[in-house]
Amino acid sequence: MEHLKGKGAFITGGASGIGLGMARAFVSAGMKVAIADIEAAPLKAAEAELKALGGECLAIHLDVSDRGDMHEAAHTCEAVFGKMHVLCNNAGVGGTGKPLDQVDDKDWDWAMGVNLGGTINGLQAFLPLIKSQGEGGHVVNTASMSGLRAYPNRGQGIYITTKFALVGLSEALVSDLAPHNIGVSVLCPGFVNTAIYKAGRNRPDRYGGPFAREDGGMLADGAKTGMDPNLVGEWVLEAILDNKLYIMTHDGERGMVEDRHNAIMAAFDEVAAREV
Ligand SMILES: NC(=O)c1ccc[n+]([C@@H]2O[C@H](COP(=O)([O-])OP(=O)(O)OC[C@H]3O[C@@H](n4cnc5c(N)ncnc54)[C@H](O)[C@@H]3O)[C@@H](O)[C@H]2O)c1
Repeated sequence: MEHLKGKGAFITGGASGIGLGMARAFVSAGMKVAIADIEAAPLKAAEAELKALGGECLAIHLDVSDRGDMHEAAHTCEAVFGKMHVLCNNAGVGGTGKPLDQVDDKDWDWAMGVNLGGTINGLQAFLPLIKSQGEGGHVVNTASMSGLRAYPNRGQGIYITTKFALVGLSEALVSDLAPHNIGVSVLCPGFVNTAIYKAGRNRPDRYGGPFAREDGGMLADGAKTGMDPNLVGEWVLEAILDNKLYIMTHDGERGMVEDRHNAIMAAFDEVAAREV
């Protein structure tokens, strides 16, 4: 997208961390910003902060894993802002920290429902609106470095599964949305200084209710020394303007992604060497 001033954006997980960083950057660029989140009090505080920055802002309390909530949000955004152009499927939870042979059905349902289901719900609710306006737009899906390599796992198997899915989904969207002049970015951060290590605070009762991860210390240490989420927000804004598919934040993780690709290429070399 070339011009963002006056354009409407919807950001899930907008009350905290990376989503709030995006909202600050978007408001500073003159966009109308709807932030959506499951946590009511931080959502109100974020809305007040964005309005104080001079932004036209709307706060929507919802659960991204609830399809009805997301469709209602799209109607609300259309009613209040008129047109919508940018969709940021950003809300995400880190999982329960258990090895994959020890997780239960609710562990799967929660992370799949929020990280992957929430993104699918965002696309289903907002793409018809963005397409119908005929003015183009942009989708940003927040994946992770965990969407590009599975090691080190650290009990993150479900999280890794959802984030790999988001990278594939984003790559598949590119050609489907190109005819509508809707660009796609997939954000793949390493550690960012947010409250992600306390994601269990938001687990709804139907998925087992709130909890604190036993290994939260390791994640907390990583997050607390992580990148400033406001800087991530600014880089997302740039990526929308430049229509960049991949948004990386941490060059130091390159080696692990290379190792994975080299292992895949080695498997191709092996099959090429077979005389069949
Ligand atoms: N912080 C990191 O180091 C890091 C690294 C890679 C990827 N990410 C991804 O960044 C995204 C944002 O996370 P963050 O780091 O800013 O963490 P955060 O916890 O600070 O923010 C996430 C927000 O999502 C909201 N949320 C959680 N479940 C929700 C639901 N069901 N419906 C609506 N809102 C919900 C939370 O209330 C919170 O405000 C996530 O997708 C996460 O996986 C974070």
